Amino acid sequence: MLQFVVWNDAYSVRSPRLDEHHKRILRLVNELHGKFHDGVQAGDLKAMLGQLVSYTNIHFAYEQYLMQLAGYKDVSVHVAVHNRMIARTSYLHARYTYDTESLSREVFDFLKDWWTSHIGVDDARYAPTVSALDMSQLR
Ligand SMILES: [Fe+2]
Ligand SMILES: [Fe+2]
Repeated sequence: MLQFVVWNDAYSVRSPRLDEHHKRILRLVNELHGKFHDGVQAGDLKAMLGQLVSYTNIHFAYEQYLMQLAGYKDVSVHVAVHNRMIARTSYLHARYTYDTESLSREVFDFLKDWWTSHIGVDDARYAPTVSALDMSQLR
């Protein structure tokens, strides 16, 4: 099946671990989109949306930790964006639990545009600072 959202090397933030996280998030969006089109059971989609919420939380916590450690100057602005993304993703998940008609092409287009622009624009801004971190110093 055609990939809905495709990783592009231009999305790299020059930190292998963070690139892996981003690839995994795009993969989750792809899988969710694929299952949606295959018409799988609502329970499966609900579980996958739950995975997207929890992995998004894990990724944001790690990314915020690295931004702080690296002394990135715009951490608070970035954290505010993350909080909005978490709220919206949690809402999509919650809404789907009582309205299984609530997933649509628009929701997937939104997730795709949102993630690719967050990674490609917002995350790209911290790349020079965070990629200069000595990862062997992490505790
Ligand atoms: Fe990110
Ligand atoms: Fe981010």
